[in-house]
Amino acid sequence: MSARPVKIAPSILSADFARLADEVAAVEAAGADFLHVDVMDGHFVPNLTVGPPIVESLRKVTSLPLDVHLMITNPDSFIQEFAEAGASYLTVHTETCPHLHRTIQLIKEHGVKAGITLNPSTSLTTLEEVIADVDLVLIMSVNPGFGGQTFIPAIFDKITRTRELITRTGSKALLEVDGGVKIDNAAEVVKAGAEVLVAGSAIFNSPNYADTIQAFRSAAHVLSAPL
Ligand code: DX5
Ligand code: ZN
Repeated sequence: MSARPVKIAPSILSADFARLADEVAAVEAAGADFLHVDVMDGHFVPNLTVGPPIVESLRKVTSLPLDVHLMITNPDSFIQEFAEAGASYLTVHTETCPHLHRTIQLIKEHGVKAGITLNPSTSLTTLEEVIADVDLVLIMSVNPGFGGQTFIPAIFDKITRTRELITRTGSKALLEVDGGVKIDNAAEVVKAGAEVLVAGSAIFNSPNYADTIQAFRSAAHVLSAPL
């Protein structure tokens, strides 16, 4: 068993938006590693959330890396805006990118780390051709659009296969998992190969963010598998 450090990325989708700065300060003080920002357009996913102005405002109130998850069609047209707003990572869905290599290069040209993500039903083969170029791979463990959904069990095997792909190709990409991650499945998610855990409802619906993040870390630490 290795002590691979696992990063915790609270998703603000489940935060109280009326007190967003306080919520962000609270998870930062509680030991969060990244701040996960879910951008939804009502087209690619059946929900609407936030855009570049919120990212710009968040950038002013936290030093956490801003892990921006773009659930939008035609992400290329917004990459410059999100980069200028202060995104640290911009993660696009392969399903929205007919010219994925070009999109990844565009993100990097703006000085932002590039991530790619796959819906639960999208095959891993779509990332094989670009795995060497990306800084982060996000495996969706729910169908994107909403917080508080249940982790799809078949995704454990997909995480394992993604880890194998990263290892086999020597990619430096972080492997992040998003959707339905809770304290009681965190160990299994990490054991499968994840190193960044997104958690929205599990953190923001809990009474004590620091206790919850610590519980995630303890669960992850005990069972983390060798890279
Ligand atoms: C789902 C979003 C997730 C969501 C996770 O479309 O991408 O980041 O906030 O929420 P939980 O952790 O509650 O499943
Ligand atoms: Zn997300």
